[in-house]
Amino acid sequence: MQDSLNAILAKASAELVTLHTRADFEAAKARYVGPNGEFTALMKQMGTVPKEQRPAMGKLINEAKGQLQAQLDVSLQRIADAEITAQLGSAIDTSLPSPDAGPGTTHPLTLVREEMCRILRKAGFAVADGPEVETEYYCFDALATPSDHPARDAQDTFYFPEAARFGNVSKKVEGEKYLLRTHTSSVQIRTMLKGQPPIRIVSPGRVYRRDTTDATHSANFHQLECLYVDKNVTVRDLKALLDYIFASLLGKDTKTRFRPHYFGYTEPSFEVDLSAKHLPKVKKEWIEIGGCGMVDPAVFEGVGYDPEVWSGYAFGMGLERLAMLVYGIDDIRYFYQNDVRFLKQFA
Ligand code: DAH
Repeated sequence: MQDSLNAILAKASAELVTLHTRADFEAAKARYVGPNGEFTALMKQMGTVPKEQRPAMGKLINEAKGQLQAQLDVSLQRIADAEITAQLGSAIDTSLPSPDAGPGTTHPLTLVREEMCRILRKAGFAVADGPEVETEYYCFDALATPSDHPARDAQDTFYFPEAARFGNVSKKVEGEKYLLRTHTSSVQIRTMLKGQPPIRIVSPGRVYRRDTTDATHSANFHQLECLYVDKNVTVRDLKALLDYIFASLLGKDTKTRFRPHYFGYTEPSFEVDLSAKHLPKVKKEWIEIGGCGMVDPAVFEGVGYDPEVWSGYAFGMGLERLAMLVYGIDDIRYFYQNDVRFLKQFA
């Protein structure tokens, strides 16, 4: 029996490497393991073997069967590979390495996000996360942005239909609507509701607005939010942190300035500009980069913090805008086109 099995295996291994078409392969396969195949015939002899020899014999046959199947698999794979090569023609050698082989490069937005988080971690900030699908409460109400505020308008905000359900996004208020967050400031509220001060978080993430896309706007872009809550926090602390961040990111010549502004959730509020003349492709002296201010006492009350005890600052800024400054990119659409000629420049 052992000899017969070895003979079949040897014959098969010699024959299977010579096959070139699927038809030839199927015919050969049938000759070995089909109903009338040589190997099948040997297996049928098992019935005639004395009972006490059957276990040993069965083991031999099983091993041989495994080897034969492996030979068949290799043969079929070789034929399939040859078919693909034939289809592609000789112009393409599929065995050559890809010119783009390797791990790829990191997206410029990711580079700037990681760098900002690294700079802020050095100042004691921890990275916090929040959902992109939000509710009106976290995105607007808790941030003292009343229901008649233009930012809540369907012109600016993507709302979900009433029937939409997101089991993993908790609603705070019965019947409130789901939406795509328009800013990362919602993470401030989620973070404060989860814990007690002192708090020092940075939260980068994706945000959505119903902007039409042009060179400087996109309906989907990225922000970076910071919140600091502690005792005796002042505007000076806020200004010092912003100076530190931008000097670290863009060079020590970078200055920041505040312009008075209004945000419902901070008082006083400012828009932040930074001096950027020393940066590539920037012609203006001052570039607006984000908004900030001292957390409004009403926001603290809403999350159950005593505003007589706690004070804090918050700011938010656009990551695309920052990346454009860092790398001298003049059109926001490059970030989203997945053009390798653009992406490769940030290796
Ligand atoms: N959420 C604002 C925006 O998207 C930016 C902002 C302003 C964030 C003031 C803040 C802040 O944390 O205090 O335009």
